Amino acid sequence: MSRFAHVTGWGMAAPDRILTNDDLAKMVDTSDDWILSRTGISERRIAETGESTATLAVDAALRALESTDINAKDIDLIIVATSTPEYLFPSTASIVQDQIGATHAGAFDLSAACTGFIFGVNMAAQAIRTGSIENALVIGAETLSRFTNWEDRNTCVLFGDGAGAFVLQASDRPGGVLTCVMRSDGSGESLLSLPAGGSKHPATHETVDKKQHTIQMKGREVFRFATRVMASATREAVSLAGWELDDVTWVIPHQANMRIIKTAARGLRMPIEKFVINLSRYGNTSTASIPIATCEALQSGRIQEGDHLVLVGFGGGLTWGALTLDWVLPERKISRPTSIRRTILVLLARVRSFIRRLSRKIEGVIWGTSSSDHL
Ligand code: ACO
Repeated sequence: MSRFAHVTGWGMAAPDRILTNDDLAKMVDTSDDWILSRTGISERRIAETGESTATLAVDAALRALESTDINAKDIDLIIVATSTPEYLFPSTASIVQDQIGATHAGAFDLSAACTGFIFGVNMAAQAIRTGSIENALVIGAETLSRFTNWEDRNTCVLFGDGAGAFVLQASDRPGGVLTCVMRSDGSGESLLSLPAGGSKHPATHETVDKKQHTIQMKGREVFRFATRVMASATREAVSLAGWELDDVTWVIPHQANMRIIKTAARGLRMPIEKFVINLSRYGNTSTASIPIATCEALQSGRIQEGDHLVLVGFGGGLTWGALTLDWVLPERKISRPTSIRRTILVLLARVRSFIRRLSRKIEGVIWGTSSSDHL
């Protein structure tokens, strides 16, 4: 029997703190008019102290799980697509696994810049379709504000923080994730990068002084690349699905720049009204932008049963991709006292995590610890 991979749950999280264009105009030489007309962005969310990529990812994941008929322990695989992970290692996905109590899941991070969520959903769908797993959680989560040079007007006006998550489940009902185009071109590595902090340029006083731990971007080159690949990847994924462009109900693009989205729409000869756009309120949240836009479109009832969706993105690497989804609503919509349930599940996961850490400490007392043990 054929197996299909359906998106059965979705959730998003965004910090409460809003940074408007007028706020930015007090920090660098810019204006609301410039930012809005060149990018389409009015405001973005910025993580507060205590918030991080993992906390946003956990919130989005728990909300996504709430709308499904499964619990965290039923998840087999967690992929966190991120360019701003909690640490270089361990993976942010491992932290999410622990915090939500996904006791049977393998977890890893996926680094493909803003295209990461599309690649992650495709990987999870492939694992489901082959029969290797039943349920997966794919999260796009970012705190780009922690890697932004707040003195560089070329980049600091663009980015925001947030997270979005999909639960994918195996089903014998046709539909769900149909096709995906995944592409990379490493010759463009210098167009969009965070140069220091990796093995090539480990952190030194000099790298910090030169602000090499912040996002560096060649905006015009990225713009040209993005307008080219958004249309070509969409065409390719749609054709692989056996659809015509007219069959597409919604395109959910990576939210980087309104002009890029409009140029892609023109290139595809599709009305801009078919594009889900929420860029003005969140800015570019990298891997989180597509799932956040999808969540909002679902919550507002724009996406309906039977709709044909295209998720399309581009980013550093360079990477780009497009994924088609035949939207089939979950067979069972669970209504339960969600916030109480979420609190209880999180508390149980925290207690479990505490007990595991404590038992490791006790083992350490009995058997000794390594001198570098700082946990
Ligand atoms: N306020 C006022 N002026 C500005 C600002 C600002 N915030 N930023 C740049 N300018 C100035 C420049 O200094 C330049 O001045 P000059 O002509 O005196 O040199 C002028 O505006 C025009 O600069 P451009 O770079 O040509 O402006 P452009 O119209 O290309 O817009 C932008 C810049 C918005 C960055 C655009 O190139 C863009 O959107 N590029 C794609 C960026 C993108 O999508 N990045 C994310 C990729 S996803 C990922 O992987 C994270």
